[in-house]
Amino acid sequence: MHDRASGLPRSSTTSERGLTRTRTQVVIVGAGPAGLLLGQLLLRAGIDAVILERRSAEYVLGRIRAGVLEQGTVDVLHQAGVGARLSREGLVHEGVEIGFRGRRHRIALKELAGKSVMVYGQTEITRDLMDIRAAGNGKTVYQADEVALLDWQNASPRVSYRKDGVTHEIDCDFIAGCDGFHGVCRASVPSDRYQAFERIYPFGWLGLLADAPPPWNELIYANSERGFALASLRSPTRVRCYVQCSLEDRVDQWSDARFWEEFRQRIGEGAIGDLARAASIEKSIAPLRSFVVEPLRFGRLFLAGDAAHIVPPTGAKGLNLAVSDVFYLYEALRDHYRERDERPLDHYSTRCLRRIWKAERFSWWMTRQLHQFPGDAFSKRMQETELEYLFESRAAQTSMAENYVGLPL
Ligand code: FAD
Ligand code: DHB
Repeated sequence: MHDRASGLPRSSTTSERGLTRTRTQVVIVGAGPAGLLLGQLLLRAGIDAVILERRSAEYVLGRIRAGVLEQGTVDVLHQAGVGARLSREGLVHEGVEIGFRGRRHRIALKELAGKSVMVYGQTEITRDLMDIRAAGNGKTVYQADEVALLDWQNASPRVSYRKDGVTHEIDCDFIAGCDGFHGVCRASVPSDRYQAFERIYPFGWLGLLADAPPPWNELIYANSERGFALASLRSPTRVRCYVQCSLEDRVDQWSDARFWEEFRQRIGEGAIGDLARAASIEKSIAPLRSFVVEPLRFGRLFLAGDAAHIVPPTGAKGLNLAVSDVFYLYEALRDHYRERDERPLDHYSTRCLRRIWKAERFSWWMTRQLHQFPGDAFSKRMQETELEYLFESRAAQTSMAENYVGLPL
């Protein structure tokens, strides 16, 4: 098969002086949910892509992260052909609860915003995407070391990497930087080519995963005097819980007993059930950050997902934003190859950023209202008043609900 844009074979390999040289249409850096989903959408559109991932597949699957999917994300996953298990095993949630001063207030998502969310772990999405990629013979190179972007400012970019002592170079039309916040793609762009916006929060989240039936029916986000806590789940037999912690804390300072005692005090006696006896199967600490880079396109390089932006996890938006970026990039690449229409590629940054900033605002707002911040008495009163207003006002609840279920793609 030949590539219409370049006239070269879509995939070819030559080997000279210990260096292999291959050609593809799109090199995707990173096999997190963004990279794997883009690979799958392109595969279905007949566009050739190679994914380069620094870690092993097992390592990628071992990272416990997101759990809440917007309806728009679910729709894109169906379009990508990975909706079957999601439909069977995903749990539809029509509301969430906010805990404050010993009471729980329900935000009726479905009733107020007309949509629900789905609880289905990022690990499961990643597994589904890995399986379908393997079945479709999509090429993914795991444990690809020293990935380097070459000539990404020109019409003929290349990406090199090392694997098992051999250097490989891939010629391509485009590079998709789906390599997360600490990846190589954004780091390859000189800092005077973009503007970065950042806010670092003075605390982290300690997360715990345990095999125990969740004693709650819907997620509970709790603002307590001792700090934030979140009661979430992965399935009818698995809970995922978080507590706000100090940035200096280490996981080994948090025994299961200490975690459950803190969680009980923050989430409330009525919510915790028998969980204090559940043994953890994973515990990790994540810092909280808001970050956006503008633009998202640099010549032939396009950033998507956490490579381009970070939200604090409170609004459950990170994975959902990665999916909307990838969907826009997929549509733009499809139009480039099928219609020779460059406009969607030109508009990629602007289209993504409109949605990104709204999710940034919502995640910042949720974080602001639910955590304990070091600060002055005025800010604390503002936080209390904001929550009281939310519980009393249907308009405020509708605003929260429409953002939580996800703004239109
Ligand atoms: P990543 O998942 O970070 O994937 C990037 C990949 O690139 C990685 O596999 C990495 O190994 C690879 N890579 C990095 N550097 C290189 C390199 N040099 N060469 C090759 N490969 C490289 N989001 C939600 O929507 N809902 C939630 O409920 C939610 N909860 C969260 C809870 C926590 C505790 C955390 C930490 C995050 C949460 N998120 C949530 C955010 C979500 O997990 C991320 O936004 C999502 O993982 C982004 O996907 P990504 O593919 O862009 O990046
Ligand atoms: C989960 C994580 C979040 O950040 C969130 O807002 C809701 C749920 C989770 O991991 O289950």
